Amino acid sequence: MQVKVIDHPLIQHKLSLIRDINTGTKEFRELLEEIAMLMAYELTRNLPLEETEIETPLTKCKCKVLTGKKLGVVPILRAGLGMVNGVLKLIPAAKVGHIGVYRDPETLKPVEYYCKLPTDVAEREFIIIDPMLATGGSAVAAIEMLKVRGARNIKLMCLVAAPEGVKAVSARHPDVEIYTAAVDSHLNDHGYIVPGLGDAGDRIFGTK
Ligand code: URA
Repeated sequence: MQVKVIDHPLIQHKLSLIRDINTGTKEFRELLEEIAMLMAYELTRNLPLEETEIETPLTKCKCKVLTGKKLGVVPILRAGLGMVNGVLKLIPAAKVGHIGVYRDPETLKPVEYYCKLPTDVAEREFIIIDPMLATGGSAVAAIEMLKVRGARNIKLMCLVAAPEGVKAVSARHPDVEIYTAAVDSHLNDHGYIVPGLGDAGDRIFGTK
């Protein structure tokens, strides 16, 4: 399974606060953005570097700068939006696409209702963002939407994953690494992650 649990103490501490039912909308948003920034640090750990010559006030020297493919960040609507700004704080030049998927209540299959991506999909590495990897249906669909448009290098960033979601994504897209702050116990009968943190979209946008 291609899942990496980011167990940095700051992330784990903030995750515990965010899970708390008593954490209000403002604090929830702030914590989620902070966690996203810390996670982006780990996700970008292996970005390639090249040497270039820089002139400091004292002398010329060889220094490292980022090279390779440019990055694209793609939140899955709507909860993914809550993590975008944190990621962009670290990689401000990244382009941002958006994907909207809902689950058809009868077929239970994911249906695409929105997809706007950077034009140069094949030239970019992508980070798909969805804080809650529950059944994995939306993530699997979003990865497919990127792949059919030419994306080859995709990572999935979430906050909390269910084992069911990890299994679904790994089975359909074994090339996609999943980064999460926690893999929780299970999904309940309503598709919520247990213990989880409730409905991430509602908690970010204060809609409950
Ligand atoms: N989506 C959420 O927001 N929370 C869950 O627990 C599962 C899916």
